[in-house]
Amino acid sequence: MNRWPRFEGSPIAAALAFLVLLSAPAFAQDPSDTGRALLQQSCASCHAIGKTGDSPNAGAPPFRTLGRSYDLDTFPRQLQRGVVSGHPDMPEFKFNEADARAAGVYLRSIQE
Ligand code: HEC
Repeated sequence: MNRWPRFEGSPIAAALAFLVLLSAPAFAQDPSDTGRALLQQSCASCHAIGKTGDSPNAGAPPFRTLGRSYDLDTFPRQLQRGVVSGHPDMPEFKFNEADARAAGVYLRSIQE
């Protein structure tokens, strides 16, 4: 069985699928954009990930203040090992190296 969708006779569907692929975070060129997209996906349900705004989960610190408690040079490595906050509300995450680096670039760009 071929897992990939087939588009015979439907150039429009094929074009749309191509556009979706192009806009996927993994294809973004700017690491900061990639990082933002990853954090949006995994963290934004609780943490404020922008330069402004409150965290949806009041107990979760906004990411623009992470630089106060974390060394942002080593934080990407922590993301790779899996962030463990020791808080039951927060699931454990593991980022691959490229994703962790991208997240680090983005986090740096939003610090207060
Ligand atoms: C389900 C909600 C939830 C999600 C999703 C979540 N967090 Fe958290 N996070 C929290 C809460 C609540 C705290 C504060 C309590 C604590 O320290 O455990 C926290 C704390 C943290 C801390 C410690 C901050 C500090 O100043 O000590 C870091 C770092 C962190 N989160 C990173 C992340 C990252 C990175 C992601 C996404 C990969 C993420 N969190 C996703 C709820 C969440």
